Amino acid sequence: MNFTDLKPPIINIITSENCSRDEKLKKICVLLESNIEHYNWVGFYFANHDTQTLHLGPYVGAPTDHTVIPFGKGICGQVAVSNANFVVPNVADQDNYIACSFTVKSEIVVPLFVNGKNIGQIDIDSNTLDPFTKEDEQFLEFVNEQLAVLF
Ligand code: SME
Repeated sequence: MNFTDLKPPIINIITSENCSRDEKLKKICVLLESNIEHYNWVGFYFANHDTQTLHLGPYVGAPTDHTVIPFGKGICGQVAVSNANFVVPNVADQDNYIACSFTVKSEIVVPLFVNGKNIGQIDIDSNTLDPFTKEDEQFLEFVNEQLAVLF
């Protein structure tokens, strides 16, 4: 499925009834990981602005030890501070990177804004080198914009 085809099922998940917010987030992870070949780990982290930490939310893929990440640390922690998309074509080139699995070659993190505030992010790991394009960024921005109504 291409990005355009994935938009209607994403909206269906978000607007469905009898489903908690976390269940919806998990379904989005499953949808993305199973339909986009270069998405091998898909998950959400949410910010606690008081403690300046990110906390792992729903995800699909290999379990990670990194359930809490301080702001500024790793790719995710940097996005909590920068409020900007972070595309990493090759994780081996990053000094400030938290490795989850040796199979991961690249990563993209896109912040989730609610009323202009960066409340978390969607994080994608890929086992492919340099797979992410502007289309991935725009698609993930779309996903997060749609998700904002749940918060
Ligand atoms: N690689 C991330 C850590 C989270 S895992 O990808 C699940 C980072 O550097 O922030």
